[in-house]
Amino acid sequence: MSIPITYSLMRYLAAKKSVDDRALNWQVWQRLVAALPRATPQQPLRILEVGAGIGSMVERLLVGDVLTHATYTAIDMAPTLIAEAHRRLLQWANEQGFQADENRERLLQLRRAGQHITIETEAIDVARFIVRENGRRAWDLLIGQAFLDLIDMPATLPALCSLMRPGGLLYFPLTFDGGTVFQPEGETQFDGAIEAYYHQTIDRRVLDGKPSGDSRAGRHLFAHLRMAGVDVVAAGGSDWVVFAGANGYPADEAYFLHDIIHTIGATLTGHPQLDTERLSTWLAQRHVQIKQGTLVYIAHQLDVVGRVPARMGNRQVGTP
Ligand SMILES: C[S@@+](CC[C@H](N)C(=O)[O-])C[C@H]1O[C@@H](n2cnc3c(N)ncnc32)[C@H](O)[C@@H]1O
Repeated sequence: MSIPITYSLMRYLAAKKSVDDRALNWQVWQRLVAALPRATPQQPLRILEVGAGIGSMVERLLVGDVLTHATYTAIDMAPTLIAEAHRRLLQWANEQGFQADENRERLLQLRRAGQHITIETEAIDVARFIVRENGRRAWDLLIGQAFLDLIDMPATLPALCSLMRPGGLLYFPLTFDGGTVFQPEGETQFDGAIEAYYHQTIDRRVLDGKPSGDSRAGRHLFAHLRMAGVDVVAAGGSDWVVFAGANGYPADEAYFLHDIIHTIGATLTGHPQLDTERLSTWLAQRHVQIKQGTLVYIAHQLDVVGRVPARMGNRQVGTP
């Protein structure tokens, strides 16, 4: 593909899906699936996904037949992404042979033999959602995919745990953990400086006056979970590894790479410690390498499953 002229988060998230599918740690996934409580029509599994983007994880759970009876609450602060999640899921469910309807409250009802999933989507900031829902509803499973590096984890994680039923499960796949690697190597020092300053901008991100980023969220998650009284049930690496095979990059992954390079450029242009001309040469070279199929990109990430203790949470087991 030629170098894109415009970039969109929606296309990035759609392009990311095949990269995620390859990267997810299936040992951790199987441990999660085995730990899920049995759902029935009377007691559906209650799932909350935060930072759900365009709803890729809902599709993954439905394809894997992991969900039989469930209510799925998918929230994201970006209204355009949540609207797209709603639209895509309705279309995708029809293509997969679900009987898919939307009711007056805009809840999606997906039915197939032995499966009934209700999906609620909402555009809302996670902090506002926590305040509103505290003491009102409780969930059996919380999912935050590629999310924890974008928030104030020490403050948000315990608050999210308080929305869980006692003994509920937490699943944090694709949590960024401070590794950004490009091949072929350029000038080692300059590559290193780009990685370091890029991670620094993640660490220094402030949103609404609050710290909102951690480039090593994956490794720090263990301590934050311990502080919140959560047991780690399973953990493993889930690095993104993007490369071109004989037929080039799979699916829309060339766009995914262009978007990553564009984001690094947008983040670091004007950085006082980086020479502007050298940076733009570096960016241009990386875009050309994508066109030629020679760029390899690796991002270090972790998948973690945790369980909140039986005494924690705002409801007793099995209550609505
Ligand atoms: C890297 S994207 C991942 C999206 C999706 N989980 C996936 O893996 O495809 C992070 C998402 O978190 C959302 N997000 C970031 N901060 C948020 C917040 N404070 N409250 C709710 N959503 C947030 C963004 O809008 C974005 O859609």
